[in-house]
Amino acid sequence: MNNKREFDSSVTKQIDAWKKKFPKEKPESSIIMSLRFIQDHYGWLSDKHLDMLADYLDLAPIRVYEVASFYSMYHRKPVGKYVLGICGSISCMLRGSEPLLHHLETKLDIKLGDTTKDGLFTLKEVECLASCTKAPAMVVNGTQYVEDLTPESLDKLVDNLRQGEQL
Ligand code: FES
Repeated sequence: MNNKREFDSSVTKQIDAWKKKFPKEKPESSIIMSLRFIQDHYGWLSDKHLDMLADYLDLAPIRVYEVASFYSMYHRKPVGKYVLGICGSISCMLRGSEPLLHHLETKLDIKLGDTTKDGLFTLKEVECLASCTKAPAMVVNGTQYVEDLTPESLDKLVDNLRQGEQL
């Protein structure tokens, strides 16, 4: 089976352009960015996508799966409009990230890793965001940082996003 044809052509174009930056004998160098291109296009990374990428880069599937499962920026199941990534690393943990995580689970009525029924929020735990001096911290959709979190600031953030406001 030629899985190359199964990715949208805009995705293969991006992967091909990225592959050119590395020696031909090192196709694994393209995995991280290729996964990003696929996720940006399809919204998440299914097993099928990972198998297709392994085939496309001529790598053993495990090489792709180990990268996709290591980094919290990759979504291995469909996610909501807002992905709330609470930092669970040491500084944030010492500053109360765990109770905040439970607070969000209760407020959103979901468990860690799940998405709300209305498709608005997905709750994830992420590694250190390099905001340790303003712990506990969170990243929304992988780019927008929210720091010095409290139960009240989380409630406000969730309520504002529910009402369609920007961060
Ligand atoms: S430990 Fe949370 S930002 Fe560094």
